[in-house]
Amino acid sequence: MSKMPANGTSNSTGSDWEQQQRELKEKILRLKSERNAVILAHSYQRREVQEVADLVGDSFQLARAAQDTDADVIVLSGVSFMAETAKLLNPDKVVLHPEPGATCPMAEMADAEAVRAYRGQHPDTLVVSYVNTLAEVKAESDICCTSANAQQVVESLEPGRPVIFLPDRNLGDYLNQKVGIDMRLWDGYCPIHQRLTAEEITEARRLHPGAEVLVHPECEPEVIRRADRALGTTGMVKYIASSPNREFIIGTEEGLLYKLRREFPDRVFHLAAGHLICPNMKSINLKKILDCLENLEPRVELPEEVFEKARRSLIRMMEIV
Ligand code: 13P
Ligand code: SF4
Repeated sequence: MSKMPANGTSNSTGSDWEQQQRELKEKILRLKSERNAVILAHSYQRREVQEVADLVGDSFQLARAAQDTDADVIVLSGVSFMAETAKLLNPDKVVLHPEPGATCPMAEMADAEAVRAYRGQHPDTLVVSYVNTLAEVKAESDICCTSANAQQVVESLEPGRPVIFLPDRNLGDYLNQKVGIDMRLWDGYCPIHQRLTAEEITEARRLHPGAEVLVHPECEPEVIRRADRALGTTGMVKYIASSPNREFIIGTEEGLLYKLRREFPDRVFHLAAGHLICPNMKSINLKKILDCLENLEPRVELPEEVFEKARRSLIRMMEIV
């Protein structure tokens, strides 16, 4: 049996694996048009998944595309909160998530019961949820944000009201510094970005002197301090487009490098550390996408009791940006 590379970046042209991927891609593209489906993929997805997608983007772009699409079926190739967001923003569509086990560990660090309890003790506090949350947590929140619009969302809040930001303590800390506020922070984190160390940034700079260092705001504060800029994935793409620099060290999940190399073939990109791979993002592959298009399963369905409330928190975010 042909072997699938861990991160979808094999160079072995002509291999069984590549032939298999080509066949899968052809079948997917055919079925996609028969079903009037759209494939929306996060930029941390495998290379071959990015290649069949109609859009490769960050959490916010996927949410906007899901809200605006005319397709009958949305295949959301990303982690489960992204597929749930698509369903919440476009309830009449069939939303397929090719691998329901592809969850986000950070999202699971905040549960609705704990958020309700916090609200009960602090009734005046506004709850701002990163979109990397479970739908039932969104339902307990006043507003959501993504890494692309977090600053605008936080700046839109009623002045003087206490705020709790969840679940990512690193993004929350970054926003506190950037906006000059003092939100309370939930104790969650992304296990992938959290592993990147300040020493690894220093070492990457030593290996690639002159390269600009861009890291995701889910990284630890000391990593952000040693970087040149903290940006969400789309923020990185936009920044690179406008930067005169030719070489970059990228401190986020490795899937983004495929997108960057495709969009900027004249630039050089280095991953800040080899371990920046999210296994949950990588658990979706072409075979699973084909299966879900064939069977129109697994579908994203959410309990009625959370649906409207979670949708409201997302819609508030979408109205700000
Ligand atoms: P973006 O919003 O930048 O796409 O990030 C999502 C994510 O899961 C980061 O780890
Ligand atoms: Fe969640 Fe981190 Fe993976 Fe993003 S990279 S999906 S935050 S675990």
